[in-house]
Amino acid sequence: MSRSTVHVAPVSGAATMEPFDPAAWRGDFPALNQQVHGKPLVYLDNAATAQTPLPVIEAIRRFYVEDCANVHRGVHELSQRATDDYENARLEIQKFLGAADSSEIIFTRGTTESINLVAHSYGRTHVQAGDEVLISAIEHHSNIVPWQMLCEERRARLRVAPINETGELRMEEFEKLLTARTRIVAITHVSNALGTINPVKRIIELAHKRGIPVLLDGAQAVPHMKVNVRELGCDFYALSGHKMFGPTGVGILYGKRELLQAMPPYQSGGDMIASVTFEKTTYNTLPYKFEAGTPNIADAIGLGETVRYLNRVGMDRIAASEHDLLAYATKVVSAIPGVRLIGTAREKASVLSFLLEGVHAHDLGTILDREGVAIRAGHHCAQPVMDFYGVPATARASLAFYNTREDIDRLVAAIGKAKELFG
Ligand SMILES: Cc1ncc(COP(=O)(O)O)c(C=O)c1O
Repeated sequence: MSRSTVHVAPVSGAATMEPFDPAAWRGDFPALNQQVHGKPLVYLDNAATAQTPLPVIEAIRRFYVEDCANVHRGVHELSQRATDDYENARLEIQKFLGAADSSEIIFTRGTTESINLVAHSYGRTHVQAGDEVLISAIEHHSNIVPWQMLCEERRARLRVAPINETGELRMEEFEKLLTARTRIVAITHVSNALGTINPVKRIIELAHKRGIPVLLDGAQAVPHMKVNVRELGCDFYALSGHKMFGPTGVGILYGKRELLQAMPPYQSGGDMIASVTFEKTTYNTLPYKFEAGTPNIADAIGLGETVRYLNRVGMDRIAASEHDLLAYATKVVSAIPGVRLIGTAREKASVLSFLLEGVHAHDLGTILDREGVAIRAGHHCAQPVMDFYGVPATARASLAFYNTREDIDRLVAAIGKAKELFG
C-alpha cells in the first residue's frame, strides 16, 4: 500500500478570522459534540485532560494504518517513514518551545516521567547529604514526591517556598530560601489547583544569579500561552501531551544540552546505547541516551501534529481569548451567593477553583455532571494546597481555547441548580 496523502483539514479554518472566535474551532473536537445525561456537553475539565482535535487523531490513525513499524532500526520503507515522522515531531516541538537544538527534546510518558528523569539523573548526581532542593507550596504531587524521595535517599532537605492567601508565591521568602546548599529549584509555571502564573522569569534570574538550575513544570502553561524556553532561560521544562490537546501517554522533557550531556541515563536498555559488551556499555548521543526502549511512536507523532495544530490556532490568540473568558467566569461565578473562590492571584490562567457553601465539592461535581457540565472535584493532586486553605477539596472549572461564554453561563446555571437541590 502506498502512503496516503489525505489529511483531515481543520474543520474551522478560522486562523484568519478576527476577532478570535472559540466556537469556530469546536468542530475540530468531536468529543465536544455529544450529549451527557441528555444535555449538550460543557467540558470544563481541561486541566485534567483536554480534548483532541481531528488532525491529531488522524495522524495517530495513519501511523497504525500505514506506517506501523519500529523507529531508528529498520532499513525498510515503513520503519524509515515511522522514523522520519517521529523525528519530524521532535523538530516541530523544538520549534514550538524555542529550544536551540532538537537533541534537547526528549520524549517521555508525560510531565511526571520528565520530572522523575531529572530527579533521578540530575538529582542523584548533584544532591548530596545536607544539600537542599527548593520547590513551592503550590506544586502538583508529581513535582513534590520525586524530590521528596530524592531528599530521603540523599539525606538532603526539601525546602518549600510559601504562598500568600491569594495563591501567589511570596517572592521575598522564596529568595531567602535560595541558599549555598540549594542544588536545584523545581517550580510550576502555572498551578493546576489555583491557576496562579508564577513569575518564572524572576525566579530563574534569582536562582541563576546563585548558579542554581531551574526546572519548570509546564503541564498547565503550554496549553494556554506561548512558551519559549530560551527566552525564559530555564534549564529544564516538563510537559504532558494530553493537557495540550495531544495524546495521552506522551510528554516532553526539554533540557539544556550541556546539562543533559553531563547527566547519566535514567533508564537503560535498547536504543540508549552506542555499543554493548558484557564488559562495558557506552551510551548513545542525545536525545536517545534518555529514550530507552521502543518509544510511544504513534503518540509522539500525534504530539508533533498537535503542535502544528496549535500553531494554526495561534498561542497568542489562545492566551488573549482565555484571559477574557477567565475574567468573565471569575466575575459571574464569584457573584453567586455562597461561592468562595480559592486562588485569586493577579496573574492567572485557565483555572477557577471554588467552594459552594453547604455543598461538598464532590456532590457539586456530581450535580453539575447531571447537567452536562464536566468539572473536577477533589484535591487536584495538590493536597498541600488544600491544607493551606484548610479545605479537603475544591470544585475546579478549567478552560481551554474552545470554551465559550455560553459554557460559563451553563456552569453558572448548573451551580444554581445545585443550590436549589441543597436548599
Ligand atoms: C501542574 C501539573 N504538573 C504535573 C502534572 C502531571 O501530569 P501527568 O499526569 O500528565 O504526568 C499535572 C497533571 O495534572 C499538573 O497539572
